[in-house]
Amino acid sequence: MQCKRIEVENFRNITHASVEFSPQVNLLLGDNAQGKTNLLEAIALQAIGKSFRGAKDAELIRFGQTQARVTLDYADDVRDMRLVTVLEAGKRRKTEQNGLPVRRASELVGGLRVVLFCPEHLSIIKSGPELRRNFLDVAISQLKPMYLTSLQRYNKILKERNRLLKNAAEDASAMKTLRDTIDIWSAQLAHEGAIIARYRVWYVQQVNAAAREVFADMTGGGEIPEMTYDGSCHMERPEDYLDAAAVEQSLLRLLTTSHDREIGATYTLWGPHKDDIAITLNGVCARVYASQGQQRSLALAMKLAEGEISRKLCGDYPVFLFDDVQCELDSKRRDYLVNKIRDKQVILTTCEPSEMQRMTDARVVRVSGGEFSG
Ligand SMILES: Nc1ncnc2c1ncn2[C@@H]1O[C@H](COP(=O)(O)OP(=O)(O)OP(=O)(O)O)[C@@H](O)[C@H]1O
Ligand SMILES: [Mg+2]
Repeated sequence: MQCKRIEVENFRNITHASVEFSPQVNLLLGDNAQGKTNLLEAIALQAIGKSFRGAKDAELIRFGQTQARVTLDYADDVRDMRLVTVLEAGKRRKTEQNGLPVRRASELVGGLRVVLFCPEHLSIIKSGPELRRNFLDVAISQLKPMYLTSLQRYNKILKERNRLLKNAAEDASAMKTLRDTIDIWSAQLAHEGAIIARYRVWYVQQVNAAAREVFADMTGGGEIPEMTYDGSCHMERPEDYLDAAAVEQSLLRLLTTSHDREIGATYTLWGPHKDDIAITLNGVCARVYASQGQQRSLALAMKLAEGEISRKLCGDYPVFLFDDVQCELDSKRRDYLVNKIRDKQVILTTCEPSEMQRMTDARVVRVSGGEFSG
């Protein structure tokens, strides 16, 4: 899979840009605050249906403008595709794929796939569980439309359920509404939650296998990482989460028997929004015991594993988007990364002109004040 060309209008600090990509390494080179990450954000928007920096659509439109447009041409082995997204202040975003409207984000699944790697991903091992859940959500959503649909439903239901709990905690008269309606929300939450958990445990199994291989390759073996799904629905073993009916039952039991505790906490205490990935290295918790270098190698292995899984399932590699990660890596890991991605399409950003020497065959695009040349 490869990105061929992008055209961007009034997106972030970019008034107008048209950039052609090489099927291999593309280096977006420029000083700080010139628009490098903005361009990656525009590409990723077309693959994951949202800003990877968590920005709202209105924030993506250039200051003082009312509309932004991103046109991306990409291709896999058989098809040439064009994705056009129009963002307009105060309106719903419009996306078209080869001229046909895309009504739901899940309709984008099966189209452009990317693996996005930013410096914050390097702390995926030591950070809180949110980053690890986000890793799963972004990766699985690009592969399984059902997952994305369930996740979107789940998040809506969770919001409503949390609102009920918060209202009941703050105002005793809201207790009746809670008693009348919470079980309906709980049943829906348990249903979608079980679907999400099943996909996640499956994906963590894939990551475990693929990341082990990459990690051994990177470090020369010796240390063995293990990643397992750490669910919050009180199932005995990680693989029990593959049984969606049993998970639904277990989650529903938790949600229907603990209203007082949940009102006390003012939010929902069980479900995939509390899940995690347990990561060990040689049998001990990597978050607590692994060195910073080991944690970074593990993070890198997980990201490269994401690419391997995508290839295994879809037949070709996704496009790798690296936002300034090289600067955060030591030279051994940098060399490993450069070697690993040499035969794939990668679009990476850097402030360091010396990266050009490291990647002699890269297509270099210079970025300055939201303009792209080269
Ligand atoms: N909606 C917007 N309209 C206009 N400019 C914006 C908008 N949103 C962000 N910017 C500006 O875009 C500029 C470039 O941002 P970007 O994150 O792409 O920088 P960068 O080249 O990746 O820099 P760094 O090397 O520091 O990461 C920032 O200075 C920011 O203020
Ligand atoms: Mg940047």
